Amino acid sequence: MSADETATPAAQLPSDATPRPVPTVEGLAPGTVRDWLNWAESELVSTSDSARADAEVLLARLIGSERSQLRLRHEDAIEAATVLRYASTIERRKLGEPVAYITTRQGFWTLELAVDTAVLIPRPDTETLVEWAISLLAEQAAVGRAMPADPDGRGPPYVLDLGTGSGAIALAIASERPDVSVLATDVSEAALDVARENARLNGIGDVEFGCSSWFEGLSQTPSPGGRGETIALFDLIVSNPPYIAEGDAHLASLRYEPRLALTSGADGLDAIREIVRDAPAHLKADGWLLLEHGYDQGPAVRALLQAAGFLNIESRNDFGGNERCSGGRKP
Ligand SMILES: C[S@@+](CC[C@H](N)C(=O)[O-])C[C@H]1O[C@@H](n2cnc3c(N)ncnc32)[C@H](O)[C@@H]1O
Repeated sequence: MSADETATPAAQLPSDATPRPVPTVEGLAPGTVRDWLNWAESELVSTSDSARADAEVLLARLIGSERSQLRLRHEDAIEAATVLRYASTIERRKLGEPVAYITTRQGFWTLELAVDTAVLIPRPDTETLVEWAISLLAEQAAVGRAMPADPDGRGPPYVLDLGTGSGAIALAIASERPDVSVLATDVSEAALDVARENARLNGIGDVEFGCSSWFEGLSQTPSPGGRGETIALFDLIVSNPPYIAEGDAHLASLRYEPRLALTSGADGLDAIREIVRDAPAHLKADGWLLLEHGYDQGPAVRALLQAAGFLNIESRNDFGGNERCSGGRKP
C-alpha cells in the first residue's frame, strides 16, 4: 500500500493536520473515490486485517472498475446511491462476511468464479493441488501412459474431482488441459449448480458434473466426456474434502461458509479416510490420488495412503510453507 493511498486528502485537513471526520453517509457529504476508500478502510481496520484491500475490492465491484484501475479514479466523485450501497457492503464486511460472498466473485488459478454460501470460497493454497495434478498429467502424457484421444479430441486420461464445490479444481485442470475428460462431483446439489454456472461463465464446456457422496453414487453420474459410456477407472483422482475437526476454534471465523464443506469428524479426517479407502477401486494401475488436507495432517494422511497400499507417497507445501497436499500412486 502506498502513502498516496493511505493519505487523507489535503483538502480535508485542518491546519493542525488532525483528520476531519470522515464523510458521513447520513449527510451524504460529497466525496471522491479516495475519500470513501479512506472512510471504509477506517471502518474496517478493527475487524479486518486486509482493510484497505477489502475497501478497494468492494468499491471497485460497485462502480464496475478493476481494482487496479481505482487509483486512476481517486478524484472521481461517487453518487449518493452508490455511497449508500457501499456503506451497506462495508457494514456486512464489518460483521465478518467474507468479501467474496459480498462481491459473489473469487479469483482462482486463471479463472474468475462465482461463489455463494452454498460453496467454500476457493483458497489460493488449493492451487498447490492444481499444480501437482497438471504436472502429473503432463508426466503421464510424456511417458505415453495416456491412451489416444477420442475423435472429439478429449480423454482419456480421466480425472475425477471429489467434492468440487464451486468447481475450482476441476475447472482449473480443464482450463489447462482441454484434452482431458474431467468428472466433478459433490454431495450438494446447490454447490453443483454453482460449479455448472462457473463452467459456463469461464467457457469451459468439457467438464461433467454429478451428485455423489464420495464414490457412492459414481455409477449414476454422467461419464466424463459425456459420451454415455461408464468410466469405471480414473487416471487421476483429486479432492479437497472437508478436513477441519468438529469443535476446532478456527470454525468461528468460517461461520459464513457451509459446514458441509469444512468439518469431517472428531479429528477432521473422516472424509479423507473414506476417500483413501475407496480410491484404489476407482483408479487404474499407476493412477494417482491427490488430497488437500490441514497443515498438520500430512503425517496422518501419508500413513493412511501407505496403509491403503499406495506407492510414491509424498506431500507438497502451500504458499505459506505448510504441508497442504499428499498423494500417492496405485501400484
Ligand atoms: C473443502 S470444500 C472444497 C470445495 C472445492 N473443491 C475447493 O477446493 O474450493 C469440500 C467440498 O466437499 C463437499 N462434500 C462434503 N461431503 C461430501 C460427500 N460426502 N461427498 C461428496 N462431496 C462432499 C462439500 O459440499 C464441499 O463442496
